[in-house]
Amino acid sequence: MLSDDAQTLLGGILIGDASAYGSLRPLVGARLGADPVAYLMPSGGVEAPTGELPDEAVVCSCSNVTAGRIRQAVHDEGCTDAGAVKACTKAGATCGSCVLMVKKIVGQELTKLGQTVSNALCEHFDLSRRQLFDAVRVSELTTFSAIIERFGRGRGCDICKPALASILSALVGAHVLDGENASLQDTNDHVMANMQKDGTYSVVPRMPGGEVTPAGLVVIGQIAEDFALYTKITGGQRIDMFGARLEQLPLIWQRLVDAGFESGHAYGKSLRTVKSCVGSTWCRFGVLDSVGMAVRLELRYRGLRAPHKLKIGVSGCARECAEARSKDVGVIATETGWNMYVGGNGGFTPRHAELFASDLSDEALIQAIDRFFMYYIRTADRLQRTAPWCEELEGGLDALRAVIFDDALGICVDLDTAMTRHVDNYEDEWAATLRDPAKLARFRSFVNAADVPDPSLGYVATRGQLRPVTAEERESGAVMIAGTTLEVRR
Ligand code: SF4
Ligand code: FES
Repeated sequence: MLSDDAQTLLGGILIGDASAYGSLRPLVGARLGADPVAYLMPSGGVEAPTGELPDEAVVCSCSNVTAGRIRQAVHDEGCTDAGAVKACTKAGATCGSCVLMVKKIVGQELTKLGQTVSNALCEHFDLSRRQLFDAVRVSELTTFSAIIERFGRGRGCDICKPALASILSALVGAHVLDGENASLQDTNDHVMANMQKDGTYSVVPRMPGGEVTPAGLVVIGQIAEDFALYTKITGGQRIDMFGARLEQLPLIWQRLVDAGFESGHAYGKSLRTVKSCVGSTWCRFGVLDSVGMAVRLELRYRGLRAPHKLKIGVSGCARECAEARSKDVGVIATETGWNMYVGGNGGFTPRHAELFASDLSDEALIQAIDRFFMYYIRTADRLQRTAPWCEELEGGLDALRAVIFDDALGICVDLDTAMTRHVDNYEDEWAATLRDPAKLARFRSFVNAADVPDPSLGYVATRGQLRPVTAEERESGAVMIAGTTLEVRR
């Protein structure tokens, strides 16, 4: 939708190919400065605009930083990478969704200045993530201190530490809280739970393919009631329990593990969920067993750490009820096998996955996903999801098909071996933590009073459940302060 003079973008809905979303979104409310058609149909014979955002376009909506401000940081304040721009302008400092766009603008401006765009991971490593992955693989080093001593400098930062934790996880496969590894993890991996806005955590047990037994539901319900946790069904077909205090996490997980649940890795840059429809088991239209395949895929790739989170969807027919094409890997059943789609995601820049291969058998599908994931894990940039990774691949999806199906790079044996090692070495992180007193020692709100809850937590009841108190409610006194047992005010 455009203003009456067709100069200002007011809004819009993209249907089908939504790849223009990332570049159009920051333009909303801004004067386009070129023929609007060129933004929407660059391949329709109309010359595309330079691909650059106008100065007034907001790139970072969290901190309200415009493209012009980022350019100013490069030209006037000497910033030469996204990290420096973040320090200067706060772009990318909150949710991080805009970092790739910031990087792109910095790259464009440096090119104009005749400077080389640095691919360095951060100020401590001159290597890109991909180069660092190869360096660690070839050198067989297994600790951060040895790696930074050999390939970097200084003591590391919040960029290189989690990146190396992820690389080491893919190559070595040690527990996230083992030895030096523990100090590399970011906030959520550090306690294997997602920190929420009030400092408490959410707990997400794995439910492969979205399946859960009635007995499992009862266990989850009882735990949520006993610990006064807010429960919600997630978009990934599982149950999230919110409001767990740090010292409660092992107690909650002990009960979940005893009931047969395991970590859902909702906190990790790793496989999250495999969403599925009910498929041929129940649905009148289903042509293949989508739940069975989803469970098989989820159990195969659980715990697989990657540059960013990974999601899969499996639909039992072309009606696509599992929305598989919005996932990193989408699988859709046909009368003659599985169609595999790659490179879809939601988030800041939504994108539909593209058809990668057709009519695959179960085994051929799994082998193709093995190789796709492992090749991505080895070569993607830090925090790069599969969608932009696919877009930036030299030669596009055809080149990727050649790597995966024709072994064009001669690395398929390597990729297969790496995935087999991952599958063989998988162990539930929470079950392993519960067996280890040294790892359990970190789950305390106060080091000198292990059982004392954080007294600043406050809750009110909404729709029959507790939620964190707002600042206004706290001031008005309508607040319940957390104790070991919470009385629910309805
Ligand atoms: S995608 Fe097809 S098989 Fe699955 S629930 Fe929808 S109609 Fe049924
Ligand atoms: S959009 Fe930039 S940090 Fe969130």
